[in-house]
Amino acid sequence: MPSTTATPSPTTGATLEFDGKSVALPMTTGSEGEIGIDIQALRAKTGAITLDPGYGNTGSCRSAITFIDGEQGILRYRGYPIEDLSEMSNFLEVAWLLIHGELPTAQELSRFGQEITHHTLLHEDFVRFFQAFPKDAHPMPVSAATVAALATFYQQPETDRSIQDAVVRLIAKMPTIAAYAYKHSIGQPFIYPDNSLDYSSNFLRMMFATPCEKYAVDPVLARAVDLLLILHADHEQNCSTSTVRMVGSSRANLFASISAGISALWGPLHGGANQQVIEMLERIEAEGGDAQKFVDRAKDKKDNSRLMGFGHRVYKNYDPRAAILKKSCASVLNKLGIRSHLLEIAMKLEEIALKDDYFVSHKLYPNVDFYSGIIYQALGVPVNMFTVMFTLGRLPGWIAQWLEMRRDPDTRICRPRQIYTGAVKRPYVPITSRTGRA
Ligand code: CMC
Repeated sequence: MPSTTATPSPTTGATLEFDGKSVALPMTTGSEGEIGIDIQALRAKTGAITLDPGYGNTGSCRSAITFIDGEQGILRYRGYPIEDLSEMSNFLEVAWLLIHGELPTAQELSRFGQEITHHTLLHEDFVRFFQAFPKDAHPMPVSAATVAALATFYQQPETDRSIQDAVVRLIAKMPTIAAYAYKHSIGQPFIYPDNSLDYSSNFLRMMFATPCEKYAVDPVLARAVDLLLILHADHEQNCSTSTVRMVGSSRANLFASISAGISALWGPLHGGANQQVIEMLERIEAEGGDAQKFVDRAKDKKDNSRLMGFGHRVYKNYDPRAAILKKSCASVLNKLGIRSHLLEIAMKLEEIALKDDYFVSHKLYPNVDFYSGIIYQALGVPVNMFTVMFTLGRLPGWIAQWLEMRRDPDTRICRPRQIYTGAVKRPYVPITSRTGRA
């Protein structure tokens, strides 16, 4: 049996005792002092691989984009705390920051804004494309398919210039795609983008305006959307981002990689959780509003229920995004003059869970999805669009991670190994000799 004596020191490295041999493994240290044991030479030196289902202990890359300290509840994009960005920045500035590494100058931001504005329109042939989907199609697979289809409209050979164009096109067209997916699902005509509006206002107008009435964007709603997009803009190597990197590692183009990321985000344990939270709160409301009963069910191992919007692979403390959203939720509802029974149930649920031994000992705190759905509801965003809102926000993060992966000289095609547990070699059995396996 191998045993490890890892000495977590950047200078001495770690030593693996294996099969009577001592194998030295170098250490790698990040700028915030996190340490990793570099096992790139492990198989060559020992013949063994590591086994880490769910990758809870595996670093897949070095990255300079986002820093999370899950124990302390810290999230920073390019070194800037999420609290500062959410208060002082806007989504397009954050997108630039993630992609380029620095905050833009006034001139850079203005040029970026103009570029984005001039690419918001979708090719008119997309109207037919949308019409091919069933009326009740969920807008997530519609968005994933539409983003993949962009690759058929922009087929230039890959150069720095064409990648840059793809980045701008994606950020510009994503709100249009999201709004069209929604309009298709409710049978309303598409509303073309209005280039006089800012990013979030334009999105709201495409979602909620109709050709028959004037629609004025409420700045409270536009600011709330912008905040939500900022909070979702990146989250280092999560499931969808790792998917984007993995697909891109085969040299698949940006559109194909982002489309795969959207599909990964759709799952109920990832971006789909915000929809599940509202459904859970509605269920509790319909059953008489007993939050304690639901907390008890979530703890019961014989019951499949989980407290949706609670727990996180990385945060073992309050998710800082949830803390910002909880405040914003109260203030947006207040400004809109809405009293939400679901918010009251959510707060009660949180209060019970945070005092409960099970949730305390498992370090389960509210995550970003716990309060985001309540704001989306207040904005009039339908439940099946919640994860699409997450997609809009996460897009610049996926793009930044894809670009970083492509430029990293250490990038190799992602190809994990496995421990095979199937049958060992055996002779083929002719069908006439096979006995039944009743
Ligand atoms: N309710 C009840 N118990 C839970 C919950 C929960 N929400 N989350 C985790 N646990 C328990 C789980 O049963 C296990 O208990 P035990 O060790 O006694 O068997 C323990 O906590 C560890 O759970 P895990 O599933 O091994 O943890 P993970 O790191 O693999 O999963 C998670 C993380 C987010 C998938 C999980 O906490 C979960 O399913 N949460 C609910 C879904 C959710 O809110 N997802 C949104 C995540 S944040 C947005 C995003 O980044 O996508």
